[in-house]
Amino acid sequence: MKPQFQADPFRPHAISKADQIPATRYYDPEFFQLEQLRLWPRVWQMACRFEELRDDGDFVEYRLLDQSFIIVRVDRHTIKAYENTCRHRGMRLCEDRGNANKGFNCPFHGWHWSTSGDCVRVFQQSYFNDETIRAADIRLKAVRCEIWGGFVFINQNPDAAPLRESLGTFAPMHEARNVDQLHARFWIAVRVPANWKATLEAFMESYHVSRTHPQLMAALDSPVDDAESAASNGANTAQAVRYASYRNGREVITGNISYLKNLSEGMGHAMVIERDIEVAERIRDIDIPEDPALAGIAWRRALNDAIYQEGLRLGLPMPDLNSLPDELNSPVNYAFPNFFLLPFFGNMASYRVRPLTTETSLMEIWGLEFFPPGAEPPRLTTPKVLEIGDPEIPLIPAQDFVNLPRQQDGMHAAGFDVLRLASSNEGLLSNYQRLIDGYIQGVSEKDLLQGITKVSGPIDAPIKDLGLPMSGL
Ligand code: FES
Ligand SMILES: [Fe+2]
Repeated sequence: MKPQFQADPFRPHAISKADQIPATRYYDPEFFQLEQLRLWPRVWQMACRFEELRDDGDFVEYRLLDQSFIIVRVDRHTIKAYENTCRHRGMRLCEDRGNANKGFNCPFHGWHWSTSGDCVRVFQQSYFNDETIRAADIRLKAVRCEIWGGFVFINQNPDAAPLRESLGTFAPMHEARNVDQLHARFWIAVRVPANWKATLEAFMESYHVSRTHPQLMAALDSPVDDAESAASNGANTAQAVRYASYRNGREVITGNISYLKNLSEGMGHAMVIERDIEVAERIRDIDIPEDPALAGIAWRRALNDAIYQEGLRLGLPMPDLNSLPDELNSPVNYAFPNFFLLPFFGNMASYRVRPLTTETSLMEIWGLEFFPPGAEPPRLTTPKVLEIGDPEIPLIPAQDFVNLPRQQDGMHAAGFDVLRLASSNEGLLSNYQRLIDGYIQGVSEKDLLQGITKVSGPIDAPIKDLGLPMSGL
């Protein structure tokens, strides 16, 4: 798998100062190729939702650059993943999704495989030398496949640590919220004219929120300079300043409900769903302390409890939100290399970002919810790929997407050498990029695993020492 290069193509792009990221990493084709050869084949990739494989034989295709995989439900207890390639002359066996309970049949010359990967028919077998078509050599090429949290992940790397270990603290954070019992209510896909890392990084810090999503400033209790910066960006200053300085408990409630509505609508009703807003409206007249700080705490507890009780009433596997420790209450969490979960109250959104070309990427968003017993979650189909600016994209990610082509373009400036990060809250951008360097440099699996577990978790993290014997820190 490792490429043989004449010179070391990594050097000019390597991170040597942890808070400064060379701009070429976002557009240089050689660096993109290094990622393709040395990063992607060695990491756990979220390949599909488990619920896409409802019946025996259900399969989906998962693609990353020139690699395509089949994820198939063999039986009630078994999910398998294979390279999506015919062992005869390399034809792609399947496309998109379907049911293969009769097996996979190659459309070129008709070889046939069972869903367990055995080749059960070579058409006109007598034409071939026996040793060319030995059963063991023409099985579908299996790749590792593990399920966590209602998602199926694959990994081409036989030496990688098991999935759950590789997710580090990201796994228990969401297990405590019964992540595996969520179902997708919607799934959208957007082609973004930006390198996959730029797209990913637009969701790795909340530093951009006051400027990019001024409508969300409401409940962030933002300092006044953020309000002013939003104003200069054409935001509604009066609203921003008012929310930044609640005068009493009643204003805290009004401001918070307004924030929750903005967040819910802006995310296509993922994270905060309509039912959460209805519950908030229902209890908005509760007794509340005058002091805004005390009111904020009291309101949060009351709302958490009301949403929990409503969940119990509906028979949902809703976690008791007030009993979750603080460290499990982070609303935006990242798992290396390209996956996010965004829990809020009981439900979540999820993101996945994949490279398409050096300077384009595919971002997908799922709205995940608990469905009451007996309710049938929608059957998922592959979403049509939207272009940025499409009115179907919810407002908040749409605002993020507006920035990305401009950033991608701007990074090409001859005098723009490095991205300069805030070491206290843009550190995640550096941490995961230095981990990528670990993969490119061929650091040991053990060291990489240690790095992954430090990188995966809440966004807005500071720059960390990953313990990697390499550049940066
Ligand atoms: S390429 Fe698949 S059967 Fe020939
Ligand atoms: Fe954003």
